[in-house]
Amino acid sequence: MFSGLALMVVAIPVNAGMASFTRKFQLEQMLNKDKRVKLMNEILSGVKVLKLYGWEKSFMAQILDIRDKEIHVLKKTGYLGAMINFIWISIPFLITLLCFATYIFMGDGNILTPDKAFVTLSYLNIMRMPMAVLPFMIIGLVQVGVSLDRVNRYMNGEDLNESAVGHDESEADPLVIQKGTFSWGKEEKPVLEDINIHVKKGSLTAVVGTVGAGKSSLISAFLGELDMDQGRVNVNGTVAYVPQQAWMQNTSLENNILFSKDSNRKRYTEIIGACALESDIAILPGGDQTEIGEKGINLSGGQKQRVSLARAVYSDADLYLMDDPLSAVDSHVGKHIFEKVISHEGLLKDKTRILVTHGITYLPKTDFIIVLKNGRVSEQGTYKQLIERKGDFADFLLEYMNEEDEEDVEEIKHQLEETLGKEEFQKELVRRASVNSQDHHHQEEQEAVHNGEVGTEK
Ligand SMILES: Nc1ncnc2c1ncn2[C@@H]1O[C@H](COP(=O)(O)OP(=O)(O)OP(=O)(O)O)[C@@H](O)[C@H]1O
Ligand SMILES: [Mg+2]
Repeated sequence: MFSGLALMVVAIPVNAGMASFTRKFQLEQMLNKDKRVKLMNEILSGVKVLKLYGWEKSFMAQILDIRDKEIHVLKKTGYLGAMINFIWISIPFLITLLCFATYIFMGDGNILTPDKAFVTLSYLNIMRMPMAVLPFMIIGLVQVGVSLDRVNRYMNGEDLNESAVGHDESEADPLVIQKGTFSWGKEEKPVLEDINIHVKKGSLTAVVGTVGAGKSSLISAFLGELDMDQGRVNVNGTVAYVPQQAWMQNTSLENNILFSKDSNRKRYTEIIGACALESDIAILPGGDQTEIGEKGINLSGGQKQRVSLARAVYSDADLYLMDDPLSAVDSHVGKHIFEKVISHEGLLKDKTRILVTHGITYLPKTDFIIVLKNGRVSEQGTYKQLIERKGDFADFLLEYMNEEDEEDVEEIKHQLEETLGKEEFQKELVRRASVNSQDHHHQEEQEAVHNGEVGTEK
C-alpha cells in the first residue's frame, strides 16, 4: 500500500512541473490573443482606409503570423495536456500493480488470495474516479489562476482621483486653478506647470498658444482628467465640454444634439440656426432624422464640430469648455457661429466660457486671454493689456496673421501697428515673411537633394 502512496508522492512534483509549464503556455497564449484581438479591432475600425489603400494582404499576413504563433502554443499545450492525462489515468493502474507486486515480494507468507485481491481492487477502484478527474482539475486551476491574475490587474488598475477637482461653493470664481502642476500619468513629466487661473463668472476667456502648448491639457485639467501633482482645482456648476475631436453617436442627427434631453422645438431650431446647421440639414437625405454612422462617417469634420457645439449649447450647462470648436469650419461660418453662439451677443452670453482658439479675429471680442507657452501661462490679461505688453501675445498675433483673411485682420494689424510703432511692425512682418519663405526654400532644397539621391541610387 505504501509503495502506491510513494508513487503518488513521486507523481506530485512531476505534475507540479507540468502545471507550471501549462501556466507558461497559457500566459503566452493570452498575450497572443490580446495582440490578435487588438490588431483585428484596428483593422475593423479602419476597414475603409485599409480597403482604399489595398492593405488587405499585409494585414492578413500579420494576423496569420499571430495565428501561427497561437497554433504553435496550442499544440504545445495539447501535448502537455495529453501527457498529464496519460500520467493520471495510468497512475491507478500502476498503483494496483505496485501494491500487489510489493505485497508478494515482501515476504514468503504473503499470498495474494482472491479475498485480499478483490478488496484491494475495490478500494483502488474508489480512488480511480477522483484520480481521473484530477488532471482536468489541475489544468482548470491553472487557467483560472492566469485569468484571475489578468482580471485582477485590470480591475485594480489605477483610477483617476475623483476628489482632484473641488466644488467649493464659497469660491467667488466658477473656474479656478491655483499653483497647479499636472501630468498625463504618475510617471510622466508635467505638461502644465505653475498654473494660476481665475475665470470670472459670465466671462468669455480665450486660451491661445502654439500647437502642443498645452491648451487641451488645460481643459482636461478642469475636467479632472489629468493627474494633479500639486495645487488646487475648483469648479462650480455644471460643465459642457466641446472636445477638439468631435464625437458622434450612432443615432439620428437630432438625437445627437438633444442627447437624451427633453425636446424643445423652439430652442432646438434656434440652436440649429445659430450653429449654421440649417443648410447641412437641408442637404442630408433624411434631414435631421438622418442616421449618423459610427464615428460620424457621413458627416464632414466641420459638420461634426458644429453638431458637437450644438449639443453642448442645448445641454444648457453653467460652464462651457470649448476646445477649438471652429477649427474645421470656414472663416465666415466661424464668424457667424462666434457671433450667434459664443460671443456676448450669442446664445451663451450669460454663461462662463473658455474658448481655445487659433482664430485671432475672435480675440478682440473676448474678456480675458490666457497665453500658454510650453505648458506654462506666459501671459494673461485683457486683449488691450496683452497687446500693450508686446510680449508672447503680440508674437502669437504676428505668427497667425498670415493665415487669416486680409480684411479680418486689418483691425488687428492696425492695433499692433499703433503699439509696436509702424516701422517695427513692418520690420517684424517682413522678417517673418522672409523666415517663412526661407523655410520654404530650405524645404525645396532638401526635396531637390532627396530626389537627387534617389536618382543616383537608381
Ligand atoms: N491624452 C494624452 N495622453 C498623454 N499625453 C498627452 C495627451 N494629450 C496631450 N498630451 C501631451 O500633452 C502635451 C500638450 O498637448 P495638448 O493637446 O494639450 O496641446 P494643444 O495646445 O491642445 O495643441 P493643439 O493646438 O494641437 O490642440 C503634448 O506634448 C502632448 O504630447
Ligand atoms: Mg488641443
